[in-house]
Amino acid sequence: MARIVCTSYLFPDQVDRLKDAGHEVRLHQGDGPIPRERLIAELADAEAVICLLTDRIDRELLGAAPSLRVVANVAVGYENVDIETASERGIVVTNTPDVLTEATADLTFALLLTAARRIAEADAVVRDGEFPAWGLDQPLTGTDVYGKTLGIVGMGRIGTAVARRGRLGFGMRILYHSRSRVEAAERDLDAEFVPFDRLLTESDFVSVHVPLTDETRHLFDRDAFARMKPTAILVNVARGPVVDEDALVRALEEGTIAGAGIDVFEHEPDVHPGLIRLRERVVLTPHLGSATRETRRAMAQLAVDNVLAVLTGERPLTPVN
Ligand code: NAP
Ligand code: GLV
Repeated sequence: MARIVCTSYLFPDQVDRLKDAGHEVRLHQGDGPIPRERLIAELADAEAVICLLTDRIDRELLGAAPSLRVVANVAVGYENVDIETASERGIVVTNTPDVLTEATADLTFALLLTAARRIAEADAVVRDGEFPAWGLDQPLTGTDVYGKTLGIVGMGRIGTAVARRGRLGFGMRILYHSRSRVEAAERDLDAEFVPFDRLLTESDFVSVHVPLTDETRHLFDRDAFARMKPTAILVNVARGPVVDEDALVRALEEGTIAGAGIDVFEHEPDVHPGLIRLRERVVLTPHLGSATRETRRAMAQLAVDNVLAVLTGERPLTPVN
């Protein structure tokens, strides 16, 4: 029998799987994230924790959890977990890749289309009773997506799924920049591997899919925006700090780029007031990339699979260390 701490809600059928395996489950019941002091106290005698990307699993917290064997992060990104300390202490860290790829790629494309075709602005106008007259050069005219150039930064699982939508669904030319070449994308999607600068200069839409690391923090800064087309739209469904938000706001205000679809923010849950003010070709969602019922269930199931595997001495399905 092991003690398992869940830092937030877990679907009842997944709680039952843990209990049926003979484990004690401690669920955080309150609204919002578990207070840090409470989490430290709960982990004092726990063997496993199922946590969210909003929980900071750092050196101090791992140091206060002498029995911990597994940290199951319910997210594919894991920059919230101190992997080095966990590895030093023999703690397995797992994430939830693959099961959220298509849902996240769908949201990415939804933001791209919404910014390009000005859907959020149009919705507000109709609700305000200001239906514009149909005309050749009418208000709310957007920009074509079909046949344009889509630049993917980070051609991993989600980047490739977005590229597939662009190429096969919207006849787009695909450029990509990544740490290494992805032959399958080049073969199946005619994707072209290009330096970051060339991707910025030639793309009509730039979609960000790199993890947050020391290398990618503020990858999109003032210089990067200056290289983009004035008609370009940036989509970020990766991590907020990959984009320098001050520089993004300035680039949008000054017309250096034309628009943005943003799901992740530099200081979540705070959103830059400049972004809130900007409405034309700018659409914002509150970190909803994987937020479909089916996908969130699959993420929970995978996290529980990982915990059960580690606690029975087996190799977890998706370890990150
Ligand atoms: P992935 O398969 O690991 O893809 C990331 C890609 O970025 C890989 O191809 C990786 O190259 C590349 N990369 C890493 N560092 C780079 C650098 N410095 N420069 C250029 N390319 C670099 O991960 P994924 O499953 O697609 O997820 C991507 C990210 O999306 C996650 O880390 C997470 O932060 C974010 N995400 C957000 C949401 C949301 O709700 N908004 C949902 C899911 C995921 P290598 O293959 O060489 O490592
Ligand atoms: C969500 O942001 C994830 O990394 O899964």
